[in-house]
Amino acid sequence: MQQIKLHDKTFEIYIPETEISAIVHSMANQINNSGVKDPLFIAIMNGAFLFAADVMRKITIPNAEISFIKLSSYSGTETTGTVNQLIGISNDISNRNIIILEDIIDTGITLNKIMSLLKKENVADIKIATLLFKQESYKSNISIDYIGKSIPNDFVVGYGLDYDEIGRNLPHIYKLKNE
Ligand code: IMP
Ligand code: MG
Repeated sequence: MQQIKLHDKTFEIYIPETEISAIVHSMANQINNSGVKDPLFIAIMNGAFLFAADVMRKITIPNAEISFIKLSSYSGTETTGTVNQLIGISNDISNRNIIILEDIIDTGITLNKIMSLLKKENVADIKIATLLFKQESYKSNISIDYIGKSIPNDFVVGYGLDYDEIGRNLPHIYKLKNE
């Protein structure tokens, strides 16, 4: 499907499934070749659930683990500027090599919050992996270790990303159509 309608808005295809899969594969290879030992992946729910599942399937590092935290900052197609922590980290993460898995980094507000939460836990190392990166709206100075694809400041949905909770199931990534 080239175009879809979600709630009141029309979206057009932007990153097809095949391209997403190539991006995920290449990022997993980079992580596999990075030399990281016993990594603990932390996926940021809900948006990163498909990305995290697909990356994990390609990870070949011994003793790789995954955990999840749930944060939320978006309402509709805009960030609210404040991040709510809905589910925290339950396991002991001290001295672990953490790799954050994010669906998309936009302003960086969510990332700042995650980093401040993790820094209290005496982790050994934190790396950040994001499928998508909106370079133009990024306002943080935290450097991102793995970027799948940099995109313009368009609102996107699909492959885990939502517009007011719908569209996460779409296999391709779509962007908001300018009317
Ligand atoms: P940030 O805190 O502004 O960097 O925004 C990060 C979070 O906002 C992501 O984890 C997404 O959940 C959400 N987000 C940012 N841009 C989009 C988008 O284009 N579509 C859907 N969700 C988005
Ligand atoms: Mg998210």
